[in-house]
Amino acid sequence: MSKITAAITAVGGYVPDFVLTNKILETMVETNDEWITSRTGIKERRILKEEGKGTSYLAIKAAENLIQKKGLDPKEIDLVIVCTASPDMKAASTAAYTATEIGAVNAFSFDLEAACSSFLFGMSTATAYIESGRYKKILLIGADKNSSFIDYKDRATCIIFGDGAGAVLFEPNEEGLGLQDELLRSNGEGRDFLQATYGGSSYPITKETFDEGKHYVFQDGKTVFKNAVFNMADVAEKIMKRNDLTNDDISWLAAHQANKRIIDATANRINLEEDKVLMNIEKYGNTTSATLPLLLFDFESKLKKGDKIIFAAFGGGFTWGSIYFKWAYNS
Ligand code: COA
Repeated sequence: MSKITAAITAVGGYVPDFVLTNKILETMVETNDEWITSRTGIKERRILKEEGKGTSYLAIKAAENLIQKKGLDPKEIDLVIVCTASPDMKAASTAAYTATEIGAVNAFSFDLEAACSSFLFGMSTATAYIESGRYKKILLIGADKNSSFIDYKDRATCIIFGDGAGAVLFEPNEEGLGLQDELLRSNGEGRDFLQATYGGSSYPITKETFDEGKHYVFQDGKTVFKNAVFNMADVAEKIMKRNDLTNDDISWLAAHQANKRIIDATANRINLEEDKVLMNIEKYGNTTSATLPLLLFDFESKLKKGDKIIFAAFGGGFTWGSIYFKWAYNS
C-alpha cells in the first residue's frame, strides 16, 4: 500500500474592507509612501475596524469561504487548528469558538502560536495527524488581527502590519502529493528583538505601562531583518539541497510576507526567477499567521497539480523554517 501523504485540497480567505493606505499613514506618523514602498514593498493593508470583533471573526470568514467553495459539510471536519499570534482572549480558545461558529460540531480544536511562523508550523502539525491515519479532514486556519496590538504612533511597526485570514483543508493523499519535507527551527535568544512585553504572564499590564504603550508590539527592525534574511534563505536552500532540487524544479516560492526585500533575498539565494515568487505584500502588509494561506488564496488559480512549492517563514521568538510541498489539484 502506498504511503499516505497530507495534501491541501481547498483554500479560503478573507480580509476586512477597510484599506489603510500609505497615504493615510502619512497623516498619522512621520513617514511617506516612497519610503514605505522602497523599504518594504507595502502599499496598503487591511484593518478590522468593528468594535468587539477579534481574530475569530477573520478566521470564521476565511473558513466559511473555504466551506462554501469546496461544498464541504462542516460536520465532517475532525480538527480545527487556528494559527494565530493574536487570540481573541486569554484563557479561551479562539479555535474552539471558530469551530463552533462554522458548524464543525464533531471536531476538536486548538490554537497554535509561533508568531509569524505559526501557519508553517501548523502545516507540519496537520500533516503529522493526517499521516498517522488518525484524522481525515483538518481545517488549518492562519488568522491575525494585528491592529489590536499595534501602536499607530510608532512608525517602525504601524507601516508593516495588517489584518487578515486564510484557511486550507488538509486531507490524506495516495498519489504522494502534499507535504514532502520540512526543516523547522527556533531560537529564544531572538525574543528581545520582537515582542509585546506587557500583557502576558511575565508582565501584566499596569496603569503606568498602559500609559507608556508597553502592551504594543515593539520591534528592533534592523536585527529582525538581518535574522530573517539569513535564516529564511538558509532553510530554503538546505531543504532544496537535501531533496536534490534545483531552481528549475521549483514552480513557486511561497514566503512569509514581512518585507519584499526579505522575500527577494530568499528568492535570490535559491536562484529563483521573479515570476515564480508569489507576492501580495503590497496589498496586505504583514498579516502574521495569514500571509502563507492568503498567498495560496490569491494565487490558487495559478497553482497546478504536481507543482513543487517551497514555503518559508520567519517570525518572532525567533521561529523559522521551510517546507517542500507538492500541490494536489487544479482549480
Ligand atoms: N518612515 C520614514 N522613515 C523611517 C520609518 C518610516 N516608517 N521608519 C524608520 N525610518 C527612518 C529611521 O528613523 C532611519 O532614519 P535615520 O537613518 O535618520 O536614523 C531610517 O529610516 C532607516 O531606518 P531603519 O530602521 O534602519 O530602516 P530599515 O531599512 O531597517 O527598514 C524596517 C525598517 C522595519 C522596514 C525593516 O527593518 C524591516 O522590515 N525589518 C523586519 C521586519 C519584519 O520582518 N518584521 C516581522 C518579523 S516576521
